[in-house]
Amino acid sequence: MSAKEYLEAQRRIVDAALNRLTPAEDQPPSSIHRAMRYSLFAGGKRIRPILCIAAARVVSDAPTGVEEAACALEFIHTYSLIHDDLPALDNDDYRRGKLTCHKVFGEAMAILAGDALLTLAFEVLSALTVIDGDKRARLVRELAKASGTVGGMIGGQVEDLEGEGKPADETLLNAIHRAKTGALLRASLRLGAIYGKAEARQLSALSKYGEHVGLAFQIVDDVLDVEQTSEALGKTAGKDAQQKKITFPAVYGVDESRRMAERERLNAHAAVEMFGDRANRLREMADFIVCRET
Ligand code: IPE
Ligand code: IPE
Ligand code: MG
Ligand code: MG
Ligand code: MG
Repeated sequence: MSAKEYLEAQRRIVDAALNRLTPAEDQPPSSIHRAMRYSLFAGGKRIRPILCIAAARVVSDAPTGVEEAACALEFIHTYSLIHDDLPALDNDDYRRGKLTCHKVFGEAMAILAGDALLTLAFEVLSALTVIDGDKRARLVRELAKASGTVGGMIGGQVEDLEGEGKPADETLLNAIHRAKTGALLRASLRLGAIYGKAEARQLSALSKYGEHVGLAFQIVDDVLDVEQTSEALGKTAGKDAQQKKITFPAVYGVDESRRMAERERLNAHAAVEMFGDRANRLREMADFIVCRET
């Protein structure tokens, strides 16, 4: 199966699991379920759950049910995007090619839809039946930390917001990117690895890979914000410069940023060398993350 076909097939598996795990639209109170589903099924690339499933497959032949653990990552990710787009944060009108959640359902419902997806992520992890209680607790802790304030997504969002208008500083840039996006991407690999019962050295290799693709991912997100059109991205292009964000292109320029993303791609490949051909899908994912155009 080609990389493109693999991604498509994985997306379908993830979408089916997300659909199963999310309350139906007609489940009362239906307004919140409509808002959650609107953002969840607006056409995300599903990079985090796909990485999680791929990591589990590297260390285990048949990690049954891993797609449900993987959905927890997409719930957190979608919640973070709904809140990222709110007027109080980045104030964006478009996401995934559609109006943002608050534009369609109002700010109050968008805040609650984010809260609900965050809560659902942990409900789903705690209900996983295939793995034992210790592993379940470990997954919960990993995801909570990666989403939290100390080196996690929320911490990164805080620094991203407080960095607006500040001089573009390399150290701050790295801290922001590692936390706001890198932590959840790294956790995607770690959740999959833990689910698949990875040994310590396997977990550490997959974490390293996650750090490299995490950094590459946000470098490319910043570059695309400069180079792409809003139509192609499905979100407003040129937003970072407009809001004076501390980004890779702002600190290093676009060309050097691209070179840095390429270096991270190669580092990601090197990190999974010990797995031989078993890690081929992860190599393709690193390539996809760096070479994508949206
Ligand atoms: C965009 O993430 C936001 C960042 C974390 C930089 P993605 O590019 O993975 O967004 P979707 O899920 O495909 O819409
Ligand atoms: C958002 O980063 C990261 C999180 C939601 C945690 P950005 O603000 O760069 O994401 P986009 O560009 O709006 O997708
Ligand atoms: Mg933002
Ligand atoms: Mg944003
Ligand atoms: Mg961005």
